[in-house]
Amino acid sequence: MRRRFPPGSRVQLTWFGHSAFQAVSPGGKVLLVDPWLENPKAPPKAREINRVDLILISHGHSDHLGNAVEIARRTGATVLAIYEVCQYLASAGVARTQALNKGGSFTLSGIRITMVDARHSSAIEDRGAMISGGEAAGFVMEFENGTTLYHAGDTSLFMDMKLIGQMERPDVVLLPIGGLYTMGPREAAKACELLNPKRIIGMHYGTFPALSGTPAELRKCLPPRMKGKLLELEVGVPVEV
Ligand code: NI
Ligand code: MN
Repeated sequence: MRRRFPPGSRVQLTWFGHSAFQAVSPGGKVLLVDPWLENPKAPPKAREINRVDLILISHGHSDHLGNAVEIARRTGATVLAIYEVCQYLASAGVARTQALNKGGSFTLSGIRITMVDARHSSAIEDRGAMISGGEAAGFVMEFENGTTLYHAGDTSLFMDMKLIGQMERPDVVLLPIGGLYTMGPREAAKACELLNPKRIIGMHYGTFPALSGTPAELRKCLPPRMKGKLLELEVGVPVEV
């Protein structure tokens, strides 16, 4: 049988600041999640990215929709989001959208994306008007080699994270820790107990002074057996997970 990717290949994950991540799959597919690539912490050339296969949008807020429209139009990427966000994106000129809703999955070139719950709001602001963005969501990405990432989007802590842990068994969890608009380090530490991942990555912090949670605080709040699982990413520096 022909291999679809070189043996031993892993998922290459790059943080662009805030909740924006790039994941390059073992088979070479490029995914962007919540691509706000001009956030204050983003590397200067982040938004010039020119090869993208799939863009995932967790909800309609501008710090998550970010540069999705221009990147999708420029690269021809398919944008995957909840139905209402897809309707908006289509009206903004994105040619390829794939709507799904919570509990549903979509597979593209061997990568399985599942939309899961998040507790947050999701209106889209467009030229001063508020458009319905449906509900906020999170994503579980299962890559060709079985590696599974959970990007929680913007959310509070909720008990069903335990179900996400049991059903999806994420290897890596990306959790908001900034506080104010999402959970902070204390809640994220509890989320880690519910999810039981191998690696823990904080996001949605440090973008503005108000998002004041830090990985150091998260480490403090984690139970001793989990402290070593925390991975502190530098923006623009890829890591293999
Ligand atoms: Ni939000
Ligand atoms: Mn946000």
